[in-house]
Amino acid sequence: MPTAEVRAVREVDGALRAALLTCWTDVSNAGGAVGFVPPVTTDDVAPALDVLLDGVRRSGDALAVLTVDGEVAGFATVVQSTGVLRRHWASVLRVQVHPSRHGQGLGRVLMTGIHAIARDRGWEFLHLTVRGGTGLEAFYERLGYREVGRIPGALRVAPGDDRDEISVVCAL
Ligand SMILES: CC(C)(COP(=O)(O)OP(=O)(O)OC[C@H]1O[C@@H](n2cnc3c(N)ncnc32)[C@H](O)[C@@H]1OP(=O)(O)O)[C@@H](O)C(=O)NCCC(=O)NCCS
Repeated sequence: MPTAEVRAVREVDGALRAALLTCWTDVSNAGGAVGFVPPVTTDDVAPALDVLLDGVRRSGDALAVLTVDGEVAGFATVVQSTGVLRRHWASVLRVQVHPSRHGQGLGRVLMTGIHAIARDRGWEFLHLTVRGGTGLEAFYERLGYREVGRIPGALRVAPGDDRDEISVVCAL
């Protein structure tokens, strides 16, 4: 029986950075809604990953890494606001499971792990945005999220293909 775990990682070494980069690139090229549209290379994704890792190092954002039998299978980041009035909640970004492992319950394991990490940090609710037209709201609804708003056409995934950005929140 494979062992799936989610850890909050603060120190990212070269091997973990490479695994995260491969994961994010593969997820994007499989059509995942994590900030890119395919095709992308690791060179396209690396600057975004380094901004994310910088937030973990410098600003106390949380990096949740999902492993299966010790191998990186997905990740997400939880970003806190710099505003003093917003310290009781945070935003989840880049939720992803490697395409080779979809449909095995690992997305739920990742989100459950993120919720535990967020509770440990004292965050009371989480916010995230979903790319309209993907149907991913249903994934988050099953996990306790509810839609609180949307910006029509905020995401231009291709010329003539503007998608709503849907905001959902979950009380922890
Ligand atoms: C979204 C994602 C993390 C789900 O991971 P997963 O491991 O395939 O999901 P699970 O197997 O844990 O599914 C959990 C539940 O959500 C449902 N679900 C999974 N993907 C779904 C989708 N795309 N749309 C609607 N429901 C979905 C499953 O049917 C399952 O339902 P159940 O609890 O009733 O059985 C994964 O598909 C992924 O990485 N996608 C690409 C990246 C992406 O687009 N991320 C979203 C950023 S907002």
